[in-house]
Amino acid sequence: MMYRMAAHQQARWGIIGTAKIAQTVFLPGLRQAGADASAVAGRDGARAARFAGDNQIARGVGGYQRLIDDPDIDALYIPLPNSLHAEWTIRALEAGKPVLCEKPLCGTLPDTERVLAAARGTGTLLWEAFAFPFHPQLERLRTLVAEGAIGELTEIKSNFHFPLRGPGNIRLSAELQGGALLDVGCYPVRLAQEFFGPAHESAWARATWGGEGVDVDTWGVLDYPAGRRLLLSCGFGRSYDTFTTLEGTSGQIRITNPFHPGPGDSYEVVAAGTQSRRFAAADELSFTPLTRHINAVLEGEQEPRTLAVDTSLPLARALDDLAGSARRHR
Ligand SMILES: NC(=O)c1ccc[n+]([C@@H]2O[C@H](COP(=O)([O-])OP(=O)(O)OC[C@H]3O[C@@H](n4cnc5c(N)ncnc54)[C@H](OP(=O)(O)O)[C@@H]3O)[C@@H](O)[C@H]2O)c1
Repeated sequence: MMYRMAAHQQARWGIIGTAKIAQTVFLPGLRQAGADASAVAGRDGARAARFAGDNQIARGVGGYQRLIDDPDIDALYIPLPNSLHAEWTIRALEAGKPVLCEKPLCGTLPDTERVLAAARGTGTLLWEAFAFPFHPQLERLRTLVAEGAIGELTEIKSNFHFPLRGPGNIRLSAELQGGALLDVGCYPVRLAQEFFGPAHESAWARATWGGEGVDVDTWGVLDYPAGRRLLLSCGFGRSYDTFTTLEGTSGQIRITNPFHPGPGDSYEVVAAGTQSRRFAAADELSFTPLTRHINAVLEGEQEPRTLAVDTSLPLARALDDLAGSARRHR
């Protein structure tokens, strides 16, 4: 069923939390998609006003609930620490405001189930902020695999590492549900879901631990039917690396960045008996196709797709199984 906002041509977005990701990734993508944010809320009104001024947002508001209740806001972006996603997403859904919640939707499986129940119960639109499923690069990769460019896809090897420096980061706090698996390991798992489907058969993981009780370097395997598998590696202690290969029976696709493709990124098809072919990944920012789609839905121009109710539960189950395996061997 088509969604339509009451009386506006363009969605008026509110941002809950003066988060770095809102500044560096969400706003540039939203603006490239031709829309903008109308207000930002922070726990502290002065900080929110400063953030608004620094980022050319019209209003900074003290208190998240005030923004949720604001009749001049049509949709909410929630980039809070993982432990707060459930509470504030449920509040927004109950107020009837469509939500783009940062990934992972929640830090625990029970919270994910609660949020999805709220989305179903209220009928309010909810997306988990994985941008890459909306990016044309993924569609091109899918087409190559479907055309048999590498034979039958049997294995995905996928990394997401970056160097996290300094204390005080939400990713190092167990209380805020940080940790490498939830922060970046969720990307390879979400990618495997796109190629292997939602239901993994078993999970194995190991980790080293640090910060305030979180996994900081994590590796594991998710098994899928017919011997297909994801081998993933993620952490906070190496230079930025999202290199991923799709391994087929007659070749490979080597992807420099499946998750946030930028102007320097590419993917290369290397197949037996043919010359390797390399393609440029992106001519848009990673969040542009995602936010363009949501705006089109809110404006009644597109049917919603890749909603959290369709994608987030299998991901949360896989992350829960991987985390359980890593914890048992701590
Ligand atoms: N999709 C992506 O590409 C992507 C990339 C990076 C991060 N993320 C996700 O985005 C979310 C935020 O990440 P970030 O790096 O932007 O975090 P951040 O800069 O630390 O921002 C989190 C915000 O949450 C608010 N907050 C509320 N309670 C807090 C608490 N107890 N401690 C710290 N902050 C608190 C703060 O805003 P106020 O003080 O103003 O309320 C803060 O600015 C996470 O879920 C992360 O996984 C997604």
